[in-house]
Amino acid sequence: MIGPMRPVIVAGNWKMHTTPADAGELAATIARRTNERDVVRILCPPFVCLAAVRDALAAEPAGGDVAVGAQTVHHELAGAYTGEVSAAMLRGLATWTIVGHSERRRDAGETDALVNQKIRRALEVGLKVILCVGEQLEDREAGRAEAVVSSQVAGSLRELQGGASSLTIAYEPVWAIGTGRTARGVDAAEMASVIRRTLGELGFAAGGEDVSVLYGGSVTGATIDEFMNEPAIDGALVGGASLKPDEMAAIVARAGLTARARAGATTD
Ligand code: PGA
Repeated sequence: MIGPMRPVIVAGNWKMHTTPADAGELAATIARRTNERDVVRILCPPFVCLAAVRDALAAEPAGGDVAVGAQTVHHELAGAYTGEVSAAMLRGLATWTIVGHSERRRDAGETDALVNQKIRRALEVGLKVILCVGEQLEDREAGRAEAVVSSQVAGSLRELQGGASSLTIAYEPVWAIGTGRTARGVDAAEMASVIRRTLGELGFAAGGEDVSVLYGGSVTGATIDEFMNEPAIDGALVGGASLKPDEMAAIVARAGLTARARAGATTD
């Protein structure tokens, strides 16, 4: 079979790290160290650092291809929501946003229904979305991992088939995030199949085969290989290691091998 035409993506989720004073320099350094045109690179700093990162990338010759993303958006475009940031406010600052990260499901009580509304608002203003899904350890141990992830995908994407071209899904098993323990490549690939099967059931075109699926959870330069070896996995959502230019350089270099192999497979 010819390899999939889906792009290879490496997104860095900086979480609650960096300040407006230091985020720009980190972004420019990562841009220089990951100068790999075949890989879609996205940096997701905290809201208050978005402008600094945007400006630093614009000023950096290697920064032009690096996209900026937010880590979440509110489920309304404006209103009496103290302390919140809407998708409309991100215009000019970001072109992507993460939605439904497990840390927000845990800490901010985000449900699939709320995540669905957030994705709608993001798509309405033209943002591309990285939707995060993933099971807890007890779900995996009880044999429920696939059912849990499938239900998160179905609930988060209900009636959003039209947004497929702006959508990427990150499979992030909760027990692998920040723990140094990764899923096995084959298990992540199996879950990517479950996700695409669910997209097909939701009525997404091509049975969801056009939607990129990333793996996330303790990805580093040392662990990326087994995920990029899986044709069903289209890259990584990187947390802790995305703050380290050496790690990002290694991760993006490995992703670039897959991107070029895919491009070669379709032109041969
Ligand atoms: P981690 O985080 O790479 O630090 O495990 C991944 C994520 O939460 O997106």
